[in-house]
Amino acid sequence: MTTLTTAPLSPLLDRLFDEADAAEVATSAAVADLSDEQRLGMMRSKTDYRALYGRLKNAPLAVSRETGVLLYMLARSSRARTIVEFGTSFGISTLHLAAALRDNGGGRLITSEFEPSKVARAQNNLAAGRLNDLVEIREGDALQTLSIDLPEAIDLLLLDGAKALYPEILDLVESRLKAGALIVADNADYSPDYLARVRSPANGYMSTSFAEDVELSMRIG
Ligand SMILES: C[S@@+](CC[C@H](N)C(=O)[O-])C[C@H]1O[C@@H](n2cnc3c(N)ncnc32)[C@H](O)[C@@H]1O
Repeated sequence: MTTLTTAPLSPLLDRLFDEADAAEVATSAAVADLSDEQRLGMMRSKTDYRALYGRLKNAPLAVSRETGVLLYMLARSSRARTIVEFGTSFGISTLHLAAALRDNGGGRLITSEFEPSKVARAQNNLAAGRLNDLVEIREGDALQTLSIDLPEAIDLLLLDGAKALYPEILDLVESRLKAGALIVADNADYSPDYLARVRSPANGYMSTSFAEDVELSMRIG
């Protein structure tokens, strides 16, 4: 038995994913006045992300169910004890990663979110999943909150906040990534700079894409 597949977490995740599916119409409506070009521009901007995510502050924007399971399996198989996450939202990915820490025997997950109402929802969800003792949610812009007081050695990094900031967040964490550390970047196609960096072995990574738009990378040096 695993923490992921048993109560209280399993029924909680079923409900949260169902709610995320039901929220899709409202999520689309929140950006419906923007043209495709404007939306793409905001997704790729290193300055407009606050405005974009402000519009989406009531939207779960969660990883897919499949990516969630994958996160759990990667964290289990790598025996991760220290995890950093960029982009908490309602905490759905956080719940998967924290469940893996629990089943690995414990650890520490630092996650970052700038929308206060989302931080509150994530805290409630982590409490409902009885995983809050493993997770520190840092409220504020991750460019600041992840720039201080990180663990000496990090086993796994999930990038799922503003896509254009993936290289900057990697800069903050890179020196602490263990050899063999895994990095999962969701919707990485929106960050061509990031993809170019992790796909070049000279930069110390091995990397591959899968499941449409997820990039899995490993620190090799
Ligand atoms: C795609 S959602 C994260 C979904 C979450 N990982 C999950 O699967 O449940 C991205 C989140 O990152 C937050 N975010 C975006 N840029 C951020 C930044 N620079 N600092 C902190 N939070 C940020 C947004 O407010 C949004 O809630």
